[in-house]
Amino acid sequence: MIIPEIEYTLKDGRKALIRSPRDEDIPGMLDYLYQSACETEFILRYPEECGKYTAEGEKALFDRMNASDRDAMLVCIVNGRLAGNCQISWSNHFKTQHRASIGIALLREYWGQGIGTRLFQELIRIAEENKNVLQMELDFIEGNTRARALYEKMGFRISGVRTNAIHLKDGRFLNEYSMVREIKR
Ligand SMILES: CC(C)(COP(=O)(O)OP(=O)(O)OC[C@H]1O[C@@H](n2cnc3c(N)ncnc32)[C@H](O)[C@@H]1OP(=O)(O)O)[C@@H](O)C(=O)NCCC(=O)NCCS
Repeated sequence: MIIPEIEYTLKDGRKALIRSPRDEDIPGMLDYLYQSACETEFILRYPEECGKYTAEGEKALFDRMNASDRDAMLVCIVNGRLAGNCQISWSNHFKTQHRASIGIALLREYWGQGIGTRLFQELIRIAEENKNVLQMELDFIEGNTRARALYEKMGFRISGVRTNAIHLKDGRFLNEYSMVREIKR
């Protein structure tokens, strides 16, 4: 789905724009996918796994997300640069259509500016406006205190743990925590 554009000011005074992705965002999205993988171990891809992302693939993803009534992607643009993005999706199966899944990541330079909070406000609005959606769900990797703080602030609570869900190249295993937020109408 396409969301209305939102302009607002970051904590440091820069102007930010939240909107649905467009073709002009493809180079920025490819840079973001690689750079974010270099900057944090709390997302699932390693930098060397980013070769599979192509301009054609991103265009197809943007087009599918924008045309869908069960998926939305939101990008945040700061001074013309793609700072990060988030997505919300729910299935078309009756048994699971009440569960919306969420993902979010920003480039490190833009952490702590309130972008995550503003994106989540919009994700919650989208979920609330879709009557089939009764709960929002997400996962975070053990140790990601910044993400956990954002999610708890936005009303999510831990609902489970997947032991040793993440295997890092240095041999460590990390748990993954699931969180849920009920939709109140
Ligand atoms: C997790 C992430 C999306 C948060 O977005 P953000 O824009 O940095 O978050 P915000 O600035 O809106 O801050 C949200 C809350 O986090 C908390 N927070 C801020 N800085 C923090 C820090 N250094 N440590 C712990 N919590 C912190 C605060 O409670 C803050 O709320 P407040 O500003 O009202 O005090 C972002 O940091 C990110 O992209 N990280 C890397 C990728 C990632 O981990 N993605 C999530 C995978 S599950």
